[in-house]
Amino acid sequence: MLVALIKSYTEKPWRSLETYQLIEDSLREKWRVKSISSENPETVCGFLARLKREYGESVFAFNIAEYLDEKNKEGFLPALLEEWNVPHLGSSAETIAIGLDKARTKELLNEKQIPTPRYFIANREGSAIKYPAERIGYPLIVKPIREGGHIGIREDSIVYDDASLDKAVNRIFDNHNQPALVEEYITGAEMREFSVGIIDSEIRLLTPVEIDYESMDVRKAILSYETAQKDLERIKLIQDGRTRDEIVDLSERTFAAVGAHDYSRVDLRMNRTGCYVLEINIMPGLGPHSFLPEAAKDLYALDYNQLIQKLAEDSMKRQKNGRRGGAMA
Ligand SMILES: Nc1ncnc2c1ncn2[C@@H]1O[C@H](COP(=O)(O)OP(=O)(O)O)[C@@H](O)[C@H]1O
Ligand SMILES: [Mg+2]
Repeated sequence: MLVALIKSYTEKPWRSLETYQLIEDSLREKWRVKSISSENPETVCGFLARLKREYGESVFAFNIAEYLDEKNKEGFLPALLEEWNVPHLGSSAETIAIGLDKARTKELLNEKQIPTPRYFIANREGSAIKYPAERIGYPLIVKPIREGGHIGIREDSIVYDDASLDKAVNRIFDNHNQPALVEEYITGAEMREFSVGIIDSEIRLLTPVEIDYESMDVRKAILSYETAQKDLERIKLIQDGRTRDEIVDLSERTFAAVGAHDYSRVDLRMNRTGCYVLEINIMPGLGPHSFLPEAAKDLYALDYNQLIQKLAEDSMKRQKNGRRGGAMA
């Protein structure tokens, strides 16, 4: 098998030069690897065509990027790989597109009766957003609808009145040029936050962890862009089995609801009223310090190289056995 690594960098630290190098080194222990770094679909297409000529059907793409040109969000890589008939790590292009749109994900969760915070979309800047805000009630949190990696999440994303809501929504339009997702803010004395990685091998591995806000130097208990940039995020293992079972169950149902494959990570938050799915990261960070690799090490003693090789191997097997499609569960 020949593994193709298409490098596409972002401001997200887990799609960095360092991460690509570590992944390439891990893969090279088991397979031949050819890599390319280009934002041009034609160049990448030529690269893959050459590999296919040389290696026939035995080409597999270890893909960890959404776009070839991440900065301009152009060249949707999973769709290109499917068009070029190259089996790739992770979910189908259709599922990846759902995960990139937090509102579409939440619609699916609502359909499947998986609890997620109440929300509305602020499609236009300013006004016209007052009524739904009153229906849900403050505090609310305002997020870009199509980002990830905590991009656009700041302490002032949590809003307590109409004026600060207006301001936060305008900021999303100004800085991110997209609608805002306005959500019920899950908070209170009994608030806890979790992240559950799913590695969908024949024996499914689950990596539930809790965000350890107590050991993080933050004023507000949220994972913001600042906490990601300054590497302030800390996780801990979950001690109580009942909570762990509940969040694992919700995460597996979320994984199925969006039709995910191979691996993903679900973010959840709970308070006195229950446990809620915030989002599913269809392509969660695979940097050495990302939640899923760290949790896989803590819970299953899988070191980084083993994890990367396992993901590749299981995905190759799945696609060889014909479980390729993106059909919704
Ligand atoms: N409805 C919410 N209630 C409370 N906190 C939230 C809510 N939505 C997001 N957050 C906080 O913001 C962080 C980032 O939000 P999330 O929806 O996971 O987006 P991202 O794709 O940026 O990770 C969460 O980890 C959580 O700390
Ligand atoms: Mg998240």
